[in-house]
Amino acid sequence: MFTVKAKANVNVKDLVPLTVAVLNEKGGVGKTTTVLNLGHELAFRGLNVLLLDLDHRADLTKGSGVALADGQPSILDALSENPPDFATCAVPVPGDTRGSLSVVGAERDLAVLELDLAGLSPFDRPGRLRPLLEWGRANYHCVLLDAPPGLGVLTSMILGSVDTLLVPQEPSFLAASGVRELELTLREFASVGVGVGVLGILITKVRSTTHHRDYMEMIRARYGKLVFDTFIPESVRYQEAPAFGMSIREYLGGRGPLVEAYSRLADEVMVRWQDDEARSMPLPQ
Ligand SMILES: Nc1ncnc2c1ncn2[C@@H]1O[C@H](COP(=O)(O)OP(=O)(O)OP(=O)(O)O)[C@@H](O)[C@H]1O
Ligand SMILES: [Mg+2]
Repeated sequence: MFTVKAKANVNVKDLVPLTVAVLNEKGGVGKTTTVLNLGHELAFRGLNVLLLDLDHRADLTKGSGVALADGQPSILDALSENPPDFATCAVPVPGDTRGSLSVVGAERDLAVLELDLAGLSPFDRPGRLRPLLEWGRANYHCVLLDAPPGLGVLTSMILGSVDTLLVPQEPSFLAASGVRELELTLREFASVGVGVGVLGILITKVRSTTHHRDYMEMIRARYGKLVFDTFIPESVRYQEAPAFGMSIREYLGGRGPLVEAYSRLADEVMVRWQDDEARSMPLPQ
């Protein structure tokens, strides 16, 4: 039904350190699932990857199989005014054997940060995240941020500090309106001098139905080369894996079309990553 072209033939030395927020204001579109599985795939290719859980529900932390021990600094500590040594905040993700995959985990108390950030001007919020991202750039090939849904103060902080965005998008009318909303937000940011581009739009939760095929075509017609060739099929397996703290690769023993989907996404991400223009593309006006 669909074709996929990219096969990564990328020299790691050509990759500049990159911070990518996986973001869509719509909920449930596959942001956390994408951070988790893309992170694992990049680490599987030997890259050092840091995951940041910026959602107080801590889905990414739990899905990584990480339980924060008492006294373990979390993302709330890392984003405080006087953060601890960032190295103490990064917890190794179990099951990663190739590269180095770590997560700065979240807990429910992250909601406190939202109150804190609400007291800052939109221009000052990114300053809280930048030191952690700088540390991430210096110590990892890539930092992937799992953003919460909505357009609150956390999203505003994230938009003002990352290099680029990866936008998961379900092939449905409501989800498509989520990307339209994001376009409007990015435009608002651009109008006050904060310009963040897009690494790509990833179509997720795709069923083999005419309805989904039509929506995919609509999304591709509107966003063109911004849309990754790879799409993620809908499967309950993607829901099961994080319940065991596993990536889809670990859960399915490294084989099959569901593993392949995120593997191909990682290839495409790496191809765009080494390309100065493709790394951060503007959304259409
Ligand atoms: N390709 C898929 N097929 C089927 N289920 C999926 C797929 N991707 C994600 N899911 C499931 O859909 C639900 C939402 O996914 P996920 O948590 O990744 O989305 P999210 O955008 O992070 O949500 P939120 O906005 O609430 O943070 C989860 O139960 C997840 O396991
Ligand atoms: Mg999520």
